[in-house]
Amino acid sequence: MTKFRKIGILTSGGDAPGMNACVKAVASKAAAMGIHAVGVVGGYAGLMRGDFVELTNEKLSNAIGMGGTLLYSTRCPEFKTEEAMQQAVKSCRDAEIDALICIGGDGTFRGATDMTFRGIPSIGLPGTIDNDITATDYTIGLDTAINTTIQMVDCLRDTCESHARLNVVEVMGRDCGQIALYAAIASGAVAVAVPEVPFDEAAAIAHIKALRDQGKRGMIVMVSEGMKNADGSAYAETLTKKIEAETGIECKFARLAHVVRGGKPTVRDRVTASEMAVKAVELLTEGKSNLVMCELDGKIVPVDIAWALIADRMYKNKLKEGDLDRFTAEELKAMEAMVEKRRAEIANLYQVATDNGN
Ligand code: ADP
Ligand code: F6P
Repeated sequence: MTKFRKIGILTSGGDAPGMNACVKAVASKAAAMGIHAVGVVGGYAGLMRGDFVELTNEKLSNAIGMGGTLLYSTRCPEFKTEEAMQQAVKSCRDAEIDALICIGGDGTFRGATDMTFRGIPSIGLPGTIDNDITATDYTIGLDTAINTTIQMVDCLRDTCESHARLNVVEVMGRDCGQIALYAAIASGAVAVAVPEVPFDEAAAIAHIKALRDQGKRGMIVMVSEGMKNADGSAYAETLTKKIEAETGIECKFARLAHVVRGGKPTVRDRVTASEMAVKAVELLTEGKSNLVMCELDGKIVPVDIAWALIADRMYKNKLKEGDLDRFTAEELKAMEAMVEKRRAEIANLYQVATDNGN
């Protein structure tokens, strides 16, 4: 058992509901193990500045149910330089922080790896609404984001039904269409467009027209923000105009954007955040690091960060020369299986969404 005196915890990248539940669980677990946990203010930028905050009972009061991140978050591209990382290591040493727990997405995990290899053992927790980390079935924040999305879409449905309109709804998710797919299924959207699956625009418009001819009044079309026009602009707005022009149905456009990133975390997000955080503290004290906590087939398990990051690149067809060299045949087999599992999951969700939209 490694004796840590102090663990730092930071939230980085886009905030996600459930990040505060992670912070609370890390502080509670650490306290129970006789370890002092401190918060880093503002992600890696705060780490470089040595900006730390005590996680007092007062600070954490009600944190488990709060949206956003009480530690604040920043995107800090400067952290990628050696000088910045050494500055962050120095801040940790000066504050006697022995280890870090870093909550965020893949960028955040790269930072955690960099800290581990510079002498500050670190573990990542997946906190992002996008659910775009290949190594884990689930990222903290997704459930809250899709539930908020559905609340908004239900409201739009009401008014669409009243006025016999169609609403195209664009949702976040970066290059991952999961928020759009779950929301499409749960709202009975008549069409869904996500970056992972080729979108047959003509077929979708014909389907919408046929539904109107059969008497359907209100309709929802879900589009993931990763769907872009050739010039990089939002495809969702283009699609709205095309549907109206080609069907004669009055169409409205709504971009939900950051609204679904806020709000109180659901039970699912609070519980997963707490489980992952507690396990991360335990693993650090066992001398383990450079890991990301994942949910695989319902279990919380640690996964090597390097493996997780390369699995992401494999999934996105962005492998670079030499990326796979460090892994054993068995590790590569597991990576390929993980990538296949995710592709199959997206394909299945797309199929269900399509079947549901009739
Ligand atoms: P996310 O963690 O949600 O993917 P970002 O990609 O913005 O969000 O990354 C969050 C932060 O992690 C960045 O602002 C930066 O401080 C740090 N980071 C990202 N990429 C790297 C990298 N290659 N090396 C070190 N730190 C990184
Ligand atoms: O990664 C979370 C996310 O909300 C994405 O869905 C979205 O593309 C991006 O962050 C938005 O980033 P920002 O908060 O910097 O506008």
